[in-house]
Amino acid sequence: MCGIVGFVGKKDASPILIEGLSKLEYRGYDSAGVAIIDNDHINVMKCKGRLKNLQKKLSGHPLKGIVGIGHTRWATHGKPSDLNAHPHNSQDGIISVVHNGIIENYSQLREWLISKGYKFVSETDTEVIPQLVNYFYNGDLVEAVMKAVSKLRGSYALGVICSKEPGKLVAVRKDSPLIVGLGEGEYYIASDIPAILNHTREIYLLNNNEFVVITESGVKLLSDDGSEVKKDIYHVTWNANAAEKGGFEHFMMKEIHEQPKAIKDTMTSRIMMDKPITLDDIKITKDEIKNIDKIYIVACGTAYHAGIVGKYVIEKLVGMPVEVDIASEFRYREPIINERTLMIIISQSGETADTLAALRESKARGARVIAITNVVGSSVSREADDVLYTWAGPEIAVASTKAYVTQLIAIYIIALFFAQNKNTISKEEIDEIKRELLRLPIKAEEVLGNKEAIHEFAAKIFKEEDLFFLGRGLDYAVALEGSLKLKEISYIHSEAYAGGELKHGPIALIEDGTVVIAGATQEKLVEKMISNIKEVTTRGAKVLALTSEGNNEIEETVDSVIYLPKVMDILAPVVSVIPLQLLAYYISIQKGCDVDKPRNLAKSVTVE
Ligand code: M6R
Repeated sequence: MCGIVGFVGKKDASPILIEGLSKLEYRGYDSAGVAIIDNDHINVMKCKGRLKNLQKKLSGHPLKGIVGIGHTRWATHGKPSDLNAHPHNSQDGIISVVHNGIIENYSQLREWLISKGYKFVSETDTEVIPQLVNYFYNGDLVEAVMKAVSKLRGSYALGVICSKEPGKLVAVRKDSPLIVGLGEGEYYIASDIPAILNHTREIYLLNNNEFVVITESGVKLLSDDGSEVKKDIYHVTWNANAAEKGGFEHFMMKEIHEQPKAIKDTMTSRIMMDKPITLDDIKITKDEIKNIDKIYIVACGTAYHAGIVGKYVIEKLVGMPVEVDIASEFRYREPIINERTLMIIISQSGETADTLAALRESKARGARVIAITNVVGSSVSREADDVLYTWAGPEIAVASTKAYVTQLIAIYIIALFFAQNKNTISKEEIDEIKRELLRLPIKAEEVLGNKEAIHEFAAKIFKEEDLFFLGRGLDYAVALEGSLKLKEISYIHSEAYAGGELKHGPIALIEDGTVVIAGATQEKLVEKMISNIKEVTTRGAKVLALTSEGNNEIEETVDSVIYLPKVMDILAPVVSVIPLQLLAYYISIQKGCDVDKPRNLAKSVTVE
C-alpha cells in the first residue's frame, strides 16, 4: 500500500529513486513522484499512472540533486491524479513529504491548519503532514517532524526533506514498514528491501516511533523522546537477482516455478526423517503446549485460505478445536480467547494492517502468538511470541503463489510439532507424513511439467464471464484460493462452493455451458464429489476436474481431467493449487491483463 524511498549521497538522486520505486511498484501503481533538493529549492515531478509515465516526464526535464524522496501510490484518500500524487509540499514549498499509511485525524488537522491560513491543493490525508511540519518549523527539521508526528493518528512511514536544510532527510515510522540502507557514504530509506538491494545489503530495521536523520556524514537513529537509539545492522542474505524476473515474462510465473524450491527450503532443517520436528525458532515448551485448549488462525486473503487448510489439518492431527477467521472481522468482534488460546497469525508480508491488529488484540487478551511470515524483521515477526518463517524468498507478484504453498508447509510443520508433543498420533504416522512431505518438491515439479494442458484449457475458457470452483473438504479450501487467483488477475467473476452446498441455492446459476472447475483429490470424498459434479453436468455445466492419478472413473462424468501426482490426502492442497494458479495466469495473459499488477490492488495492505 504505497512504497516510499529516499536517498542521501554524492550521486544524482533521481535515477536511484526511480530504480528503488521500480522495485516497490508492487505496493501500488496509481501514481508516482519524486522530490529532489537542488541547492536551496525542492523540485517535484509527479504524475498519475505507472512509474513509466514519471520516467518519461523526467527524461524531458531531469531533476538535479543528491538528496531526494520518491513515492509510488495505492490510492486511499483521493482518486489517482497528478494532484493527489506524492510527494506533497507545504504551501510555501520548503517542506516535501512522502507517506505510506493513513492519517485518521487528517480532517481535523486540515481544518485547524486552514484556520491558521494554510491552503490545500489535494484531496489526500497526507497533505496535512508537510503543512504541519511547516507550521512547527523553526530552523530545525528534526524537531518540526517530531512535533508534527505527535499530532498524527493512524499509520505512517514518512520521508521528509526541507529546502532550508538541503543535505538532510528525516524519516519515521509507525505501523507502516520502513528500512534504512547503509552504503558507502550513501544512505537510503525504503518501504521494502528490494528497493535498495542493488546498492547495499546492510540495513537497519526500524521499530515503531523511531526517527532517522540522514546527512552525508551518516545515519542517526532517535526515539520519540529525542534520545539516540543504537541498533544492530541486519545483513540481507539474499541478493538482487532474487527480486528479478530471471528470464520469465512475469514475476507470477517465476514465482509459480519457484514453488518446489520454496517448499524444500521451508522444510529444510525442520523436517528430517531421523529426528523429531525441530523448530529452533519456536520457543513454546511442552507444558505450555499442554495448557493450550484452542487454536485460532487469523489472516487475510490467500493467507486466510492457507488458514482454512490449517483448520482441517490441525484438527485431524492434533485433535484440538481450531477456529479460522478473517483478520478484519476478528478484530471487531468479541473473540473468545485467553491465555489458553494459541493464535496462529499468517501473513506473507508481515505488515497487513488487519492481521497486525488481530495479533495485538490476541496478545492483549493473553493468547500466545505464533506468526507464519515470509519477511524477516516484519512487524508481525517482531510482535509475535514465536515466528516460523516461510523461506519462499521475495514474492513480488501481487497474486500470492509460493507464499501460499510455503504457508501450507509451515502449517503441516506446526501440526506435526504439536502432534509429536501431545502424542496425538503415533510415531509411525508422523514418519509417514514426514516422508510424504519430503517428496512434495518433486510432486510439485511434476505438476509444473504438465502446464501445457492447463494452458490449452485456459485458451478454451478465457472469454467466460462467470466460473464456479467446487470441492469438498480440503478441495473446498483450495477452490477458494483458485477462485481468488482467477478474480484478482483476470477480472473474471467466480465463486467457490463446497460441493454439497451448491444445491442449497447457487445451483440456480448453473446453465448450459457454465464452466465449473471441480477438485476431487480427497480419497474418501471422490464419490461424493462425482455426485456433485453430476448435479451440475445434468444442468449443462462444462466441467474440468482436478483429481489424483488413478481416479479414472471421473472421466465418464466430466469434459476434461487434469491428473495430479498421488499424495497423502492432507497434503493434496500443495499440488492441487498449482494448476489453479497456472489457470488464472494463462487466462489473465490471454485477456491481456496486467498479471503482476492487477487493477485496484497492491501487494501489501498496510491500511485497514
Ligand atoms: O501479506 P499478507 O499475507 O498478509 O497478505 C494478505 C492478502 O492481502 C494477500 O494474500 C492477498 O489476498 C493476495 N493478493 C492474494 O493473491
